[in-house]
Amino acid sequence: MIVFWPTVNKGVNGPPYTISASGWGCPGVAGMVYSVMALPHSMSAQELLRWYIDAGVDETIADGPVNRFQEKPKAANPAAPPAPLDLGGKKKDLADAAAPTPSSSPSLPEASPEMPLLPPQGGANGEVTSAVHLAQSAESVDELRGALETFDGCGLKKTATKLVFTDGNPEAPILFVGEGPGAEEDRQGLPFVGPSGKLLDKMLASIGLDRTGVLISNTVFWRPPGNRTPTPQETAICMPFLERLIELVDPKILVALGGPAAKSLLAETMSVGRLRGKWFSYSMPGLARPIDATALYHPAYLLRSPGQKRVTWMDWLGIKSKLQAP
Ligand code: URA
Repeated sequence: MIVFWPTVNKGVNGPPYTISASGWGCPGVAGMVYSVMALPHSMSAQELLRWYIDAGVDETIADGPVNRFQEKPKAANPAAPPAPLDLGGKKKDLADAAAPTPSSSPSLPEASPEMPLLPPQGGANGEVTSAVHLAQSAESVDELRGALETFDGCGLKKTATKLVFTDGNPEAPILFVGEGPGAEEDRQGLPFVGPSGKLLDKMLASIGLDRTGVLISNTVFWRPPGNRTPTPQETAICMPFLERLIELVDPKILVALGGPAAKSLLAETMSVGRLRGKWFSYSMPGLARPIDATALYHPAYLLRSPGQKRVTWMDWLGIKSKLQAP
């Protein structure tokens, strides 16, 4: 969640507002729903801060709210002219007809070095290429961690407190991959140390394992703000490091925890409910042989849906026998 921060810093009389926005599938501001909550005036700065943290706020983005509807359209940045939309005659007419009128259309803010007018053209190709080179230059898990420490290509690093890379034993025969660090992981710099990590530890113990016998990592290595799902771009930028980790550890078994990790690793579009309980072959050019891979419900999902623990127990038994198999 994001928050404008007008009162505590400046002592302005008036309540601070938190704003949560959710899309309804319509592009742009017209498709967003905003809920605004006023806070009691009597709160001290410390109480207010605690209130924000409890409400899930983890970023401040501006000193005050900005009414984008009242801004005048600015001249486009000559350094980064928007690419003309090539929609073709008829389609363009339709697009124009559907476009909101200027009075209801949010204008683009003026570009500045900190906030480019347009996203970089060409997607994340440059960052992915540097990630591949950097990751491939690492010859051990420690070197890979060191390489990640120096890597600035993933935007998540800007809002995270710590790099969260691996925990456990790099010599282990089994590698678990989750989605991305949460708040507690971000504080400690270790994966799965919050509530879902506690459940993961219990499930590991149920088949006689602990963190000395497994390695744990994620598909992204910095906490997405507000625990949102990592974007495909963020996942793609971190993927060369995860792939190099898999090459270096070369585990007997690879386990994706939850749908996003399963989709990234197994390149499957099916839900985790359909992927769990099945075994796949994970192969990459850098691997001597394919690795047996499977997916489990994410521990955070199991905390919310304990009814799924029964089938997950069967999945853990499957993992145990696969580990014991010659
Ligand atoms: N959830 C994840 O997917 N990874 C973590 O490290 C913690 C929670």
